[in-house]
Amino acid sequence: MKRSRVSISAQFMLLVLVILGMNGAAYFLILKNVYQQELKAQAQTVVANVEAFGAWVAQHGRVWVKDNSGNSYLGEMTVTSAAKPDEPIHFYSKNPALAQREFSEAVAQSTSPAKFRMTSHNVMNPVNKPDTFEQTALAIIRTNNQKEYAEFVQGEYRYAQAVFHKAACISCHGDPAKAPADVINRYGKENGFGFKEGDVAGVISVRIPTHSLSANLMSFIGPLEVGLVVLSLVFAFWFIRSQLISPIKKLTVSAQDISTGQDSPINTDGIALNTRNELDQLVLALSRMRNSTYLAIKKMREARAEASETLVKAKAAVAKARADHPTPTDPATKTVAMGKPGGPKKPDKSH
Ligand code: HEC
Repeated sequence: MKRSRVSISAQFMLLVLVILGMNGAAYFLILKNVYQQELKAQAQTVVANVEAFGAWVAQHGRVWVKDNSGNSYLGEMTVTSAAKPDEPIHFYSKNPALAQREFSEAVAQSTSPAKFRMTSHNVMNPVNKPDTFEQTALAIIRTNNQKEYAEFVQGEYRYAQAVFHKAACISCHGDPAKAPADVINRYGKENGFGFKEGDVAGVISVRIPTHSLSANLMSFIGPLEVGLVVLSLVFAFWFIRSQLISPIKKLTVSAQDISTGQDSPINTDGIALNTRNELDQLVLALSRMRNSTYLAIKKMREARAEASETLVKAKAAVAKARADHPTPTDPATKTVAMGKPGGPKKPDKSH
């Protein structure tokens, strides 16, 4: 079955559409990766800030505040100033984890889109109990010895980074019998103990609301972006038309002319013999083919002319021979009459 193929322009149009579609998909995936990396970087920044804040509290052992609203403190201390001996001042202490929890609560109330908390598989304060994502993160981090874990959960990017126990932490999170009395008083002996140095203490868990990329796609595409895409298509179509299609059309006309024997000049001006352009190579080849075809035709015409001249001479010789020896039934004369070239030169021998 013969294939009836569509034009190169139509094929190219189709190809461009496929390329555009595939490129669009690739750009979308790249955008998605960039967005994910950006979210991760944001979450890591939050974790670093929380750790820096915890380190600042730890550097001072504990922070002492005068306010005990919320009853959130570990130790208590009363100070009397020499100037006002009858006005004692009460101070309340907060250890790093406690201060970090209050920090996280303050951030939760703030306009910051990123929120965080500290949690553990073995929490000292039940308020810090892990949710479903945090349970998964803790399990994966602890079994695989991973440093971090992230997931997209219901319109949020959730990220957890492991926190490890150092020697200083074990005084409160190791053996409850050796833990400070104020810790035992507030949190009891049951939870948040039994850790060793180097254990995963828990995670700093960050949540950042995400935006749907496909829903926001239109906000990324402006007139400049559309203009660039259109311009690139115009360039591509211009190239195909001027460098391929119109030269091919010209060559087709020449080839058709040659095939019907018309003299059709092929312009090879400005084409170097060692050109690397395939179409120019085709032009050169076609031009050579045209020249040799015309040469062949010319030779053929010359041969034909020569042959007919010979034929005329032969006929004349036969006529002359017949006139000299009139033997019409002679088979040799018949053969000569049929036009064998060279025949007329021999009839004398057969007689
Ligand atoms: C002074 C005692 C003390 C020390 C030292 C201490 N912690 Fe804690 N830790 C606590 C208390 C108390 C809480 C509960 C705070 C709250 O109410 O949210 C806590 C909570 C935590 C939590 C949150 C989960 C939970 O158990 O409620 C993590 C994680 C944690 N500590 C890790 C550490 C690490 C790591 C260190 C060492 C760098 C450390 N802690 C040192 C007392 C301590």
